[in-house]
Parts: sequence; C-alpha cells; structure tokens
Amino acid sequence: MSKKTFYITTPIYYPSGKLTIGNSYTTVAADTIARYKRMQGYDVMFLTGTDEHGQKIEKKAQQAGMSPQQYVDEIVEGIIDLWKLLDISYDRFIRTTYDYHQKAVQKIFKKLYDNGDIYKGYYDGLYCTPCEAFWTETQLIDSKCPDCGREVTSAREEAYFFRLSKYADKLIKLYEDNPGFIEPQSRKNEMINNFIKPGLEDLCVSRTSFKWGVPVSFDEKHVVYVWIDALSNYITALGYENEAYDDFEKYWPCDVHLVGKDILRFHTIIWPAMLMSLGLPTPKKVFGHGWLLLDGDKMSKSKGNVVDPVILSERYSVDAVRYYLLRDIPFGADSNFSNEGLINRINSDLANDLGNLVSRTVAMISKYFDGTLPDASESGEHDEELISLAVSVKESVEANLDSLQFSSALAEIFRLVSRSNKYIDETMPWVLAKDESKKTRLATVLYNLCESIRIISVLIAPFMPGTSPKIQEQISAVGDAITWESAGKWGVLPRTVKVTSGSPLFPRIDVEKELIELQNQSEAPKQEEKPAPAPKDEVDQISIDDFAKVSLIAAQVLECERVEKSDKLLRLIVDDGTSKRQVVSGIAKWYTPEDLVGKKIMLVSNLKPAKLRGVESCGMILSADCSEDDVKVIFLDDSIPNGAKIR
Ligand code: MSP
Repeated sequence: MSKKTFYITTPIYYPSGKLTIGNSYTTVAADTIARYKRMQGYDVMFLTGTDEHGQKIEKKAQQAGMSPQQYVDEIVEGIIDLWKLLDISYDRFIRTTYDYHQKAVQKIFKKLYDNGDIYKGYYDGLYCTPCEAFWTETQLIDSKCPDCGREVTSAREEAYFFRLSKYADKLIKLYEDNPGFIEPQSRKNEMINNFIKPGLEDLCVSRTSFKWGVPVSFDEKHVVYVWIDALSNYITALGYENEAYDDFEKYWPCDVHLVGKDILRFHTIIWPAMLMSLGLPTPKKVFGHGWLLLDGDKMSKSKGNVVDPVILSERYSVDAVRYYLLRDIPFGADSNFSNEGLINRINSDLANDLGNLVSRTVAMISKYFDGTLPDASESGEHDEELISLAVSVKESVEANLDSLQFSSALAEIFRLVSRSNKYIDETMPWVLAKDESKKTRLATVLYNLCESIRIISVLIAPFMPGTSPKIQEQISAVGDAITWESAGKWGVLPRTVKVTSGSPLFPRIDVEKELIELQNQSEAPKQEEKPAPAPKDEVDQISIDDFAKVSLIAAQVLECERVEKSDKLLRLIVDDGTSKRQVVSGIAKWYTPEDLVGKKIMLVSNLKPAKLRGVESCGMILSADCSEDDVKVIFLDDSIPNGAKIR
C-alpha cells in the first residue's frame, strides 16, 4: 500500500541580503512539521527555495557591479548554507531562475491569458524615476516615494492585468466551504474585511520598466510580475508544466503553505484565484504566522537590527535556537525576540530541566549499577503517575502539532521532563542506594526514568534533531525504541538498560557576561542605543565604530585584463603595499585595462574574498556612481604610498 503523502512549503526567500532569525522562523517551523510527519510514516515533500527576480534585485546587482544572476548565485549559496546549519531537512529546493521554472511560468501566464483571465491595458500610477518604480497613492509616505523619499510623477505603462475582481465571490465561498483554509481564524476575517469586501481590483501582472524577470512568451518586452512568478513555484517544483519533476499528481494540493502574516494576502487571494483560473485544486491550508520583533520593532536588514542566526547557532547550538523559536513564540502571534529570553530558556528548560534529568539519571546508573541495570523490577509509589503521564504526552503533542501549535506541543513534552525530575526528588534514589534490600526498587526507579527519557527523546526529535540522538545514545535506545509509535508505549527498553555518559547537552550560560559578549558580536544595536532614524533622503546612519571596521587603503594597479565571457568584469592585480592581490571589478563598461594600469586607487582591503564568474576577488575598488549609466573610479594622487590607510 502506498504511503499517505504530506506536502508542506515555506515561502521562497528574496536573496537580497543575509537572512535574519525572523526569516529562519518559518523554515524551522516547517522543518519541524516535515520531520514529525516523516516520523509518523508519511511520504513528505518539504519544499523551500528562493525568489530571485524583480527590480530590487536587478538594482542591487547593478550597484554591486554584477549581473543579477551572479548576484543572486552568491546569496543563494549563503541561504543554502544557513539551512544546512539549522538542520533544515527540505526535500526540494527551487530557484525561480531555474530554467524549468521560468518556462513553466511562461506557460502558466499563457494559460491564464488563453482562459481570458489576463488582458492588456494600461497601468496608471505614480512613478519614481530614480527607483524606476510605480506606487499607489496609499503607498506613498508624505506624498513621496516610500523607498527614496523623492518626488513621484503620474505615469502610465502598458501592462497585462489579471481579472482578480472576477474571483471575489469564489474566494469567499472557498473560505466558507473550507473553514481551515486560512489560519489563524482572525486572519481570515482580516482578508475578507480588509481586502475582499472593499472590492478586489484587477491585478497588474506584467512590467516593462525593468528586465530581470520571466519574459511574457507572447510579448517579450513585458516581464511577468514577481508574485505570479514566485507563487507558481509551489506547483512548478512538482513538475507542473515541465519535465524536471513528475510528482504533481502525487503531492498537489498542498497540505500547508506556511507563511508570515505579511504575505498571507498573496497566498489566500491571488494564489487561489490563479489556481481556480488554471482549473487546479486550491491548497488545503495557508497558515499566516506572526512576526518576530526585536525590542518591539520589525526586524529588518535595512534597520541594521538583524539578529544573525549563524552567530546564535554557533554560540548556543542549533537546537537551542530552534527550541527557543518554537517554544517562546506562540505560532500565529507577534512576539519579541530577545537574547536574554533565549539564554534564560537555555538555562532553565534545556540545561536545568532536560540536561539535568538525563545527566543525573545516567550518573546514578553508572554509580549504583556500574552502568547497566539488573533484570529486576519492583514497582512502588509515584510510578503510576509518571507512567500514565508519559504514555499520554504523544497524543497531546500530535494534537498540538497538527494544529501548528509548536509552543504548546513543547510545553507538553517539558511537563514530562518536570514530572520526571519531580519523580527523582520523590523517590530519592540516593537514599534507596544506601539500603541493600532496596536495590531492586532502585533499579526500577532508574529504569522508569530511562523510559521517560526515551519517550522525551523521541518526541523532541522533530524540534531538536541533533539533541534527540545524543540522548538516545546515552541510554542505548535504538530501533523500535525510538520510533514515533514507541513514544506512546511504556516498557519498550529492555530492563537491562546500559548507559554511557556524554558531555552536558546544554551547558549553563552566565547571562550577564554572555549578553555583553553577544552585543559585541551581533549586528543588533545595543539595547539602550537605538539608532536615530536616518533622514528620509539619506542612507541609514552608522557609527564611527561601524566605519572603522572597513579597511580602506591606497593601492596601485599593476596588471589588468577582461574576465572571460563577461562584458562587465575586469580582473586586476594590485599592489597593496605589502603584497600583490587579485581584485575583480564590474567596471569593464567604463574602463579598458589600459586606462587603469599604473593608476592609484582606493581599495576596501578587508572584504571577505568572493568569486565572480569563478574568479576570486580579494577586495573592492571604490568608484562613484555619477549617473544611472556612468561610473567613475576614484583615482588617488601618485604621491600616496601603496598601503597608506585612508580614513
Ligand atoms: N519572496 C517572498 C515570498 C514569496 S512566496 C511565493 C518573501 N520573501 S522574504 O524573504 O521577504 O520573506 C520570507 C518569509 O520570512 C516571509 O514569510 C516573511 O513573513 C518571513 N519573515 C521575514 N521577517 C520576519 C520576522 N521578523 N518574523 C517572522 N517572519 C518574518 O516575502
């Protein structure tokens, strides 16, 4: 008999910079569900990926002197590394720049057009020329462009439109017929009252003002609107309208799209309308979780208050970070992230409660029975209470995970952790150990603790995949004793449990000392010194310490040549005062190698090496963007020695 399937997705991420702990939140949550469903025996498809098109990316790449493809390639590599670090067990990773996806998006767009749901018209909007972006009246801030704060002008652009208005009633019916379609429930009312009831407008689904996107197959000066491109990933990744995969029939419709509340609207209005138009079933559930806030504020890269998941995971272990995210934040609501909260959770729940339970039990078996329990049993007071709680936790965890209540599921598991610690206090094994006639009772108490620990280790596996096997190793739990099913049973371990002590699962942390160190390490601003808001028309402000991190020096160009197969890149060898180094720069459009050899330039010398078109670049040459299409390298006076510090 074929297994039941379960299809879960995260949003596909914008590769516009480093991901924050906030971005990691959705993925850690989805990973937990995927692991849980696999343990339950489902055939799981867990999809994640990157959403790489759009004007923003095109611009960032231009600023970095790279092609958009080079730009996203580098960032996507970092995203994949982050998922590895966080133990994310995705089954498939889609990039919207994959050829199979782009061709499928063209076919989807054409199908919507052929069905009469896409038509050509004009987009009337307010246009910001430097940003090349259209805005609506409500998006403006003080009547100016919300991105750069400059004046906007009325403009019109030829565009294709999707007949979203036609789907208003059908969407309301979808929500009514499927009460679990949008969750949490409060967000369903928000969608109906804020977006559908006031009247759905047709959606502009193509752009002509930039190029970095999927071209409309029958009108190539248009590129497909990023959201049509991005949302389609959920079906193209299964092989819809392409041959890269062939499991669309098997996994669609999706069991759950996990998304942040900010993008719920796209997933519960535009996406089902597109699917209806394509004649496809709609997803079973879209869950919009709340936001992780930092000191009550939105976490964002541009605000500089990003909490780096890499730093946190490397310092405290991936599992501690995963635990904190899922335990402290009720899924659905907004919640504050704080380093102090994270450390307190590690100390109290993980080090004190869970860590101590395991280490005390293992230490007592080692001390009183030389590491192996005897084959004997004598039940006594408090056993029943512990056993009945232990075998019932699995069911409560399942109920909570099935409704995506991660925090409550963990609370249930940790109820058993606390009960087990209490059982140690109640039965006082150290007193039993003093009396030879109580040896069998002592062995039973310790066996009961091992069983309880085994159940805990199985139930935490989806949340803390690294810690679970470490615990199981200490109590020699293997095979049938660590299946999901076994978490609902008692007496699965053999009576003669053999233990091996390991290093502490979660060492205790000195909160005060740690907070200071963390502040120095992390990119988050010090709690008491929130950065002053940057003036509208300037970039974000940085401190002198931030600036001091950049090593700027004078260097001289010794050699220069074009990078093969690139019309943008030059490869330069420069003398930095102490050695020769290779730098790649995206200035080939404005300079020939002859223009540069012998010249003194400004070099950012402590930039992490990066590969551009496969050529390693160790530093960056500074230049000025004089206009959209004119870049000038900043040349220095010949008398400045190579290696001179610039500040
Ligand atoms: N590319 C779109 C999604 C397209 S899906 C077809 C996108 N990408 S994103 O990188 O900006 O955001 C990805 C996810 O991270 C979103 O679900 C967003 O809600 C979530 N989060 C980003 N910052 C967050 C917090 N601070 N807290 C919780 N989640 C947040 O949107």
